[in-house]
Amino acid sequence: TSARGLVVAIDGPAGAGKSTISTRLAENLGYLYVDTGAMYRAVACLVAQRRLNPDDEESLKKLCSDVRIDLVATAAGLKVYAMGEDVTQQIRTPEISKLTPLVAASPAVRAAMLLLQRQLGASGGVVLEGRDIGTVVFPEAQVKFFLSASAEERGRRRYTELQQKGINVDLHETIAAVRERDQADMNRTQAPLKQAADAVVVDSTRMTIDEVLVLMEDLVRAREKNQ
Ligand code: DC
Repeated sequence: TSARGLVVAIDGPAGAGKSTISTRLAENLGYLYVDTGAMYRAVACLVAQRRLNPDDEESLKKLCSDVRIDLVATAAGLKVYAMGEDVTQQIRTPEISKLTPLVAASPAVRAAMLLLQRQLGASGGVVLEGRDIGTVVFPEAQVKFFLSASAEERGRRRYTELQQKGINVDLHETIAAVRERDQADMNRTQAPLKQAADAVVVDSTRMTIDEVLVLMEDLVRAREKNQ
């Protein structure tokens, strides 16, 4: 394919380290990084701002008919814009985190994001991170990873992250919440989380971020040579 690089798809459950790994992998390869979760979160910001009902498919359809979501790589990380407005901070608030799965369940929203994501990846040299990249968005991606870790480990990581922020939660409850979210992600009708048959499964349970990164980068570089 193109001399500008491959399409790399990274899917997996929440808390497996996808964002950190995808950001660094894209940086090392000189590829564009597309955080598709951030795109769904940005649409959720618009739904919240306009006080739309996420179950009202008609109003979401209207919203999507001229929606503009931009991802801009900066030295300080990825900036996310919705209709030209910087929503980088807002997309990480608990309110938007809660609203996003409802918005991401809309066929109209998924169709609009699919189009955008395909455009962003069309010329290659891109790392796309999400839940349905290797299965739905780029089934023809040259490299597909399914990045996972045990629910216990992902719960523990989440627990540590919250502790560091000074937020006190129960470890067992955090692990139970991870399991619940996995079930919801795998059982929804719209683009459920599923491993592509040809994905390379990376289980990060007993690996450091650097170890995972080296493994994945080596594989992409090997495939680049074979193109
Ligand atoms: O990865 P994240 O937490 O930023 O994802 C936010 C939400 O968007 C989450 O509910 C899963 C959903 N999502 C999706 O449905 N499809 C994607 N390709 C990426 C995220």
